[in-house]
Amino acid sequence: MVGTGRKLRIALVGVGFGAEFAPIYKAHPNVEWVALSDTNPEKLAAAGGRFGIERSYPSFEAILSDDQVDAVHLVTPIPLHAEQAVRVLEAGKHCACTVPMATSLEDIRRIIDAQRRSGKNYMMMETAAYTREFLMVEEHYKRGEFGTISFARGSHMQDMEGWPEYWMGLPPHHYMTHAIAPVLKLLGKRVKKVHCFGSGLLPQERQKRYGNPYPVETAIFRLDDSPVAVEVTRSLFQTVRPYTEAFSIYGDKLGFEWQQIEEEDPMIFSMPQAAFSRGRKIHHEMVVPPDRQDLLPPEVAPFTKRSVFSDGKHLSFVQGGGHSGSHPHLVHEFVSSMVEGRKPAIDAITAANWTAPGIAAHLSAMRDGEAVEVPDFEMELDSVP
Ligand SMILES: NC(=O)c1ccc[n+]([C@@H]2O[C@H](COP(=O)([O-])OP(=O)(O)OC[C@H]3O[C@@H](n4cnc5c(N)ncnc54)[C@H](O)[C@@H]3O)[C@@H](O)[C@H]2O)c1
Repeated sequence: MVGTGRKLRIALVGVGFGAEFAPIYKAHPNVEWVALSDTNPEKLAAAGGRFGIERSYPSFEAILSDDQVDAVHLVTPIPLHAEQAVRVLEAGKHCACTVPMATSLEDIRRIIDAQRRSGKNYMMMETAAYTREFLMVEEHYKRGEFGTISFARGSHMQDMEGWPEYWMGLPPHHYMTHAIAPVLKLLGKRVKKVHCFGSGLLPQERQKRYGNPYPVETAIFRLDDSPVAVEVTRSLFQTVRPYTEAFSIYGDKLGFEWQQIEEEDPMIFSMPQAAFSRGRKIHHEMVVPPDRQDLLPPEVAPFTKRSVFSDGKHLSFVQGGGHSGSHPHLVHEFVSSMVEGRKPAIDAITAANWTAPGIAAHLSAMRDGEAVEVPDFEMELDSVP
């Protein structure tokens, strides 16, 4: 797209949670049109009507064979992500995909390979990397205000009872990128190895689909080239707690802790007088993270605010609190990367580094906490002739 001056043509596949992205693409100044696609014709028609989008595709194949389409954004069920991403890239189109990138290391490698061979962009649309909270913490971190980081923690707890069938019995850490991505992005590190334990016990019937006995998994990750360890807990069933998709990080000068419940605001901890004395005072302050519309083109900036989105009824949206203003940032980064002919911020290797730790963690849980190494995908790629 670089230098051609042509705007992008986008196909958005899956209009459940995915519908939330439709009006953002429609409004983006570098997008000519966005078309919708979904195997459920009623949902497709409803989304088209709701956002005034007439263009649609009757099937995934119709999108892949249409030369007009520059990029495909996948927001389909988890078991489809890897196969569809590979097919989009092999069709010579850029691909954005909701989390998780994949649920096996083999599929992660297939996507990295397809991206490399196609030369097209792959971006994992990780909402947790663009929340107001993350963008605020990133500013503090860049200014060195945390001092030396000593520990971080992530947590994603959500009751998935009654959600679509593919969620039933899913290994909890197969969908945990929201809890670890902010920490890895902030520190610029990847996970080297993990120890993880499963917790609780799913009913036999629910264990059948994925062979996973656990409603909850809790892991401790050792980072590569860093003294920091990261603890992540993920629950899907049998754990009564309101939704949370949180990270916390602590240095020797500043600490950040995600809000207890979504309706609250996060905490910043600080120690103004860093005297080394017994019982020294640590201050706490509840802060309202600023809305970063300043990072976005004016046409899509208002989409950081909940009220701008549709009717906000989709559970993924409501329970995620609109994912804290992240959606227009994701769309803008994906579109800009294509327009500028550069890698997106969450490219295939970064997506792999944020997804594989959860896959390794589940393997560890199935081996009663045995250490499991996480592959270095960048090094593997460097060794490809
Ligand atoms: N914060 C986040 O990043 C976040 C939040 C919610 C969901 N998600 C991800 O988004 C995805 C979708 O979530 P959801 O809650 O809307 O799921 P869902 O299962 O409720 O809806 C998926 C939609 O895709 C459609 N679909 C199914 N198969 C299809 C196919 N082959 N081609 C085209 N459309 C197809 C379905 O008809 C449905 O409309 C999930 O994979 C989930 O992992 C991410």
